[in-house]
Amino acid sequence: MNAPVSPDAVTRPPLTEACIAEDVFHAMRHENLARWPTGAGVDFEAAVARHLSLPKHKQLAWVMREADRERRCLTQPRGGFGTFEMHRDLMVTLDRDGLADVVPTTTDSYTRNEQWQLAQQGIEESEKAGRSLLNGYPMVNYGVAKARELVDAIDKPAIMLTGTAMPKLTGEIGYAAGYSGYLGSGIAYTVSYIKELSIEEGIRNYQYLDRLAAMYQAHGVELHRRQPGFLTGTNIPPSIAIVTCVLDCLLAAAQGVKNYGLEMGETLHLIQDAAAVAACRELCQEYLVKKGCLDVFTPVTLLHWMGAWPHDDAQSTAMIAYGGTLAAIAGANSVTTKSTHEAYGIPTPQANAEGLRMTRMAIYLARNIRLDSMPEFQAEKGLIKREARAILDKTLEMGDGDAALGTVRAFEAGVIDIPWSPNRHVKSRVMPARDADGYLRIIDPGLMPFPKDIMDIHEEKLQRRARKEGVAFSHDLAVSSVYEMAEPIAKLLPDKWTSSNV
Ligand code: 5AD
Repeated sequence: MNAPVSPDAVTRPPLTEACIAEDVFHAMRHENLARWPTGAGVDFEAAVARHLSLPKHKQLAWVMREADRERRCLTQPRGGFGTFEMHRDLMVTLDRDGLADVVPTTTDSYTRNEQWQLAQQGIEESEKAGRSLLNGYPMVNYGVAKARELVDAIDKPAIMLTGTAMPKLTGEIGYAAGYSGYLGSGIAYTVSYIKELSIEEGIRNYQYLDRLAAMYQAHGVELHRRQPGFLTGTNIPPSIAIVTCVLDCLLAAAQGVKNYGLEMGETLHLIQDAAAVAACRELCQEYLVKKGCLDVFTPVTLLHWMGAWPHDDAQSTAMIAYGGTLAAIAGANSVTTKSTHEAYGIPTPQANAEGLRMTRMAIYLARNIRLDSMPEFQAEKGLIKREARAILDKTLEMGDGDAALGTVRAFEAGVIDIPWSPNRHVKSRVMPARDADGYLRIIDPGLMPFPKDIMDIHEEKLQRRARKEGVAFSHDLAVSSVYEMAEPIAKLLPDKWTSSNV
């Protein structure tokens, strides 16, 4: 007699980048949708019909392609409230008053951690209090029909922003309702948002979501998937961000995804951000082509500053507008916006809408400016690409060409490393710091195998800052760089000529 096959053996084949087989995926979906009652509301055929009935301008994959074709930089905020009515009103405000090109639904932390019972309590308490006591919209609890109403309330594409390494049920529900975009990825979110989950589990969870997007694609529905950059709230050198963009992208493409956005947090250095956008776009395509993927569209999004913000509306306003300028000049396909409330917590709908319009005005003013002919831009782009290739090639080699295996092994060895990651499977020995000219550099590579001549460049530039400021060349440069943008402007740029100092 044959031994009974455990359900795990079916739904948990060994880790590989390879596309999940159809029967295995069917069994995985069955298990997944049974985890909460609203999972039963997902009807794949009805979902396909729903997407095919949406006008093109409400389909994010199409909108991103059009933006790219027209060289437009789209604006997209974040936003989510704890009850259906509050959240619908927010989406309408961001669409109409904020002129958002893409309308978000940020989920709350209980939903992100799959604690749907607690999310339910949060809904009830928010209803009672008449204000949102959740930090986002509990998409799973409200289910497919309510999510459909949200998509119907706006005239733009809707994207799920879910800050989670566990996207399987939220993604099923949102996609089934007509959301046409999902932000999140197995590497970036696992190293940004969760302490205990292994990189392997994060990759597996997103392979499910990417496989789902590919299943829609096979039925004629183009969905947008997007890599989320980093949300560690600290500084991430562009080459490290790009390494994860490329690997997350290769993993998604292996599942059959055709529309895959790439995100990077702004360094707030105009030349470095422009170089990073170009390098990211080029390297993703370079590595996709090496894998034989010739038809994956990879637009790039910049994120308004993802570190600590100042407690000053005037300073914040400058950072919002400058963030729009950077994204436009960098040639980003979209920018994800923040508001003057960032230092205080979740923005009001009005402040959120203002952040969008400030950014939009800045984008308008920067039309058609590009830095390609600047020697500094070319030098920076070349540097970023060489750094990223060194890590990517080593990672793929460690996986014998398999991006999933290579990524897990590279994190174990510190070959890929993320500064200040909350995840215990990341070494976090690499340290970035800003140099005297405001570029983000690497002061300590940890175990990352960057070429020696490149590390010499980083060190020389950071030594120059230490000399200029009269401080030691040490990790203190890294720490002060984390808090820099949140410092009062009077400290960053003090008065020069006053009765007290002349
Ligand atoms: N509404 C608006 N913005 C939000 N963010 C997170 N949750 C919400 C929400 N519910 C934004 C904040 C945060 C970033 C990661 O996402 O700006 O810094």
